Amino acid sequence: MIQKIEKINRIKGELNLPGDKSISHRAVMFSSMAEGESIVRNYLNSADVNSTINCFRELGCEISVENTNLRIKGKGFKGFIKPKNNIDAGNSGTTTRLISGILAAQDFETTIIGDESLSKRPMNRIVDPLTKMGAILKPSSAGTLPLNIHPSSNFQNIEFNMDVASAQVKSAVLLAALHLDDETIVIEHAKTRNHTETLLGLHVEEDEDHRKIFVSKSDYPQAKEYLVPSDISTASFFIILTLLTKQSELHLKNVLLNETRIGILKVLNQMNANIEIENETEINGEKSGDLIIKSSSLNNAKIEKDIIPNIIDEIPILSVAGLFAEGNFVVRNAKELRYKESDRISAMCENYQKLGLTCNEYDDGFEVFGKIKNNDVLIETFNDHRIAMAFSILGMLSNKQLRINNFECVSVSNPEFLNQLKTIAQ
Ligand code: S3P
Repeated sequence: MIQKIEKINRIKGELNLPGDKSISHRAVMFSSMAEGESIVRNYLNSADVNSTINCFRELGCEISVENTNLRIKGKGFKGFIKPKNNIDAGNSGTTTRLISGILAAQDFETTIIGDESLSKRPMNRIVDPLTKMGAILKPSSAGTLPLNIHPSSNFQNIEFNMDVASAQVKSAVLLAALHLDDETIVIEHAKTRNHTETLLGLHVEEDEDHRKIFVSKSDYPQAKEYLVPSDISTASFFIILTLLTKQSELHLKNVLLNETRIGILKVLNQMNANIEIENETEINGEKSGDLIIKSSSLNNAKIEKDIIPNIIDEIPILSVAGLFAEGNFVVRNAKELRYKESDRISAMCENYQKLGLTCNEYDDGFEVFGKIKNNDVLIETFNDHRIAMAFSILGMLSNKQLRINNFECVSVSNPEFLNQLKTIAQ
């Protein structure tokens, strides 16, 4: 479906955005693993999280939807049943990589499959450490899905020194290690999002250079109630639209403010954004609060290497903010962007160039500046929800008409994107 985007002049109002995607995935997984009934409140009803839900239904869990809540009857330690079908993770890298850790520890064989985009994404980053634990995983010859997982009689704890800054890789090992009596230690050198260790209450030791996470069977999840705050990655599209439209003010209620996820707020703060936080609270170890965003005149700021893992999903929309800010937008040290739902470095550059902007592509980032010259451009989303939403916001800020192909891919993280916008656009 091709979506036409119209200019928006002003934003006014309040939004209660849907639950955070990373936390929703994990709440479904941990509830399914636990013995007995758990409730997940304000879960994200999107294609990605629904892929996780369907995978656990295949593994024998009863999961019912009640408005924005889930009621999950978990199977308990090693209680999953061998699925009749392949485990289909759809478009979701988080589902695939996290569930691989869980399935590697089961006593039955499974195969994980996914859509065209997911089937191109690298899986050796989880296959290697899980193999080091003695698990038996066979990806395709290209190191991608389908991923076949066999039971192993030789499954053991490890000390894992991470070589890629990835919360999904870290989580795959942590979830596998929940099935072992002996302690596994995961050492990360860049601080990636920490929802797995926070929600499981894992012991973490931290200094300037690294974080050590300790995990064993004693940390296996128990049935409980989760309350998922609104997704800050989803919020970032609305935040940047508000900052860059005149005389605008937006209130976003109960947004996730986890320290490893607020990189976008820190960078926007350096860019002179007017964003205030009110009513801060904490549930299940996860911080949240209300954001009040007002029109601002932005300038570009240097994006430091250390913050990259904490803004990795926001870089496409952050570059749109950079385009309407003083100076050039430059991001480096972000090669991980090439391994997302699309190669986001080349996707952003290709579309920026189509618009007549100057965009220099680097192996680990890009630089963009200039004025949009071309009218009625058709944006290529590569079926990537964040590319589709980033260019939608760009279109709403520009006088030039924009069309966006395969727009339905926004349903991966926010099916209600356009409806939410209608309620605040003037
Ligand atoms: C996620 C981790 C991030 C992020 C993805 C969700 C998670 O990927 O890009 O959208 O929920 O663990 P990395 O594995 O690269 O950190």
